[in-house]
Amino acid sequence: MSLAREISKRRTFGIISHPDAGKTTLTEKLLLFGGAIQSAGAVKSNKIKKTATSDFMEIEKQRGISVATSVMAFNYKNVKINILDTPGHKDFAEDTYRTLTAVDSVILVIDCANGVEAQTKKLMEVCRMRNTPVIVFINKMDREGRDPYDLLDEIENTLNIKVRPLSWPIGIGSSFKGVYNIYEKNLNLFDSNKTKVQRNIVSIKDLNDPTLDDILGISADKLREDLELIEGVYDEFDVEKYKLGELAPIFFGSALNNFGVQELLDTFITIAPFPRGRETNLRLVEPTENKLSGFVFKIHANLDPNHRDRIAFLRICSGKFERNKFYYHVRNEKKIKFSNPTSFMAQDKSVIDEAFPGDVIGLYDTGIFKIGDTLTEGEKMEFKGIPSFSPEIFKELINKDPMKTKQLEKGIQQLTDEGVAQLFIQQPGNRKIVGTVGELQFEVIQYRLLHEYAASAEFQPKALYKACWMTTNDETKLENFIARKAQNIAKDKDNNYVFLAPTKFLLESAEKDYPEITFHTTSEFKRTLVEG
Ligand code: G4P
Repeated sequence: MSLAREISKRRTFGIISHPDAGKTTLTEKLLLFGGAIQSAGAVKSNKIKKTATSDFMEIEKQRGISVATSVMAFNYKNVKINILDTPGHKDFAEDTYRTLTAVDSVILVIDCANGVEAQTKKLMEVCRMRNTPVIVFINKMDREGRDPYDLLDEIENTLNIKVRPLSWPIGIGSSFKGVYNIYEKNLNLFDSNKTKVQRNIVSIKDLNDPTLDDILGISADKLREDLELIEGVYDEFDVEKYKLGELAPIFFGSALNNFGVQELLDTFITIAPFPRGRETNLRLVEPTENKLSGFVFKIHANLDPNHRDRIAFLRICSGKFERNKFYYHVRNEKKIKFSNPTSFMAQDKSVIDEAFPGDVIGLYDTGIFKIGDTLTEGEKMEFKGIPSFSPEIFKELINKDPMKTKQLEKGIQQLTDEGVAQLFIQQPGNRKIVGTVGELQFEVIQYRLLHEYAASAEFQPKALYKACWMTTNDETKLENFIARKAQNIAKDKDNNYVFLAPTKFLLESAEKDYPEITFHTTSEFKRTLVEG
């Protein structure tokens, strides 16, 4: 099969949601439709099995969360679907942000009772930054929830995206009767069933058809009114606007009851974009180029703490990946080959011989990879858009055992390469300030340092507000700022200067006093940063 054909068959996406909206349930149901798993409950039970086999994962089990981001691939109607799963816990949001750099589109799950929640907003901000196409699935329609019009308004107003319903609910909660598929002009009638695929479809081409009244009774007129209103208020669905990330089609359903999921999946494979060109620091790379390129967006620690090797997740952007072929590791300036690259089909890992743009493969990593690393066939380019976001909590790492300084250095370096947290080094004294988006990472780091590196450490809270990367056209001013604020200046993992602003007020003062310097709370501008 030609490369272009392989590419057009692939859909690589992420499911995002505020915790508890139903992301895991929907993922599982998609896998069920795709025939990738045989029974409901398999995804969750897999999570538990994994956590039971490792100490590190014990932390997750105790807290009932899934730290790992995994990849699940399956075939559906001759399309290869790659789902990049993201951790639901908010403390691992950064992991999710990075995973979003490796997808071509997303499905956003919203709980019909809670509407747009805190984490929904943050995740959508990241999608909006890169104009990622979004399909919205409003879930839990079998439960009492909010008025659908309210939900649509809230999505438009708070998530900064236009919406267009492609299905419409009839009732909600105890009165939920099903959805009308606006595009296919049929009714899908709801019947609570958690294990089976539900498809009770009645074609209603003309809304005046009396069959509608026979089936829905008094709800038929309400549906007619709603549909008339929708057609009046919302423009026709424009797939190009969806692909530009400007318009989100909306579906209603109940993941737990397998309801509305197939409509979602069928529309998804029809409209979702296949792998597209990606920007590097040098040029746009088209997926159809013959030479391989790809980037590492996640590094996963071995679940067995006795083996320190890791798995680097590589998103393929162009060309064909082949087992045992030499590729160029741009940052290390070295050629390497991989004898056991793995693919992830549903829950099975298997060694593969080849992979194509859109695919995500696992590469055994003995410590050579960092998040954001690029592999090519020789070209010295780097993919854009694996930004670091300013952490929200900062703590200083204190060594409790001077005999183990080396282990601690190595451990914290490797853990931050994996992206567990961000490390900022402050002078004098090489002080290590660790920044995260949640408290949980500090526990994970402390635990892993001790169990994997035999290094005992503790954290001392630092009252800091944000880490800001800096750009300027006036080098002298920047040098002046760095000298004056020395006690709040540090360097990040790439040796960039960072201003650790103690408070919002002090950041604003710095912005006022130094108008020549721009302070960024993401490192998206990395390429233009002044290196220290
Ligand atoms: P998450 O990954 O987004 O965090 O959410 P998850 O799928 O784990 O779902 C959170 C809870 O919501 C689960 O209940 C799940 O069963 C329930 N849920 C998901 N979809 C629906 C739906 O369509 N209708 C209803 N009524 N509930 C739904 P739980 O009690 O927390 O977990 P469990 O014991 O059922 O596994």
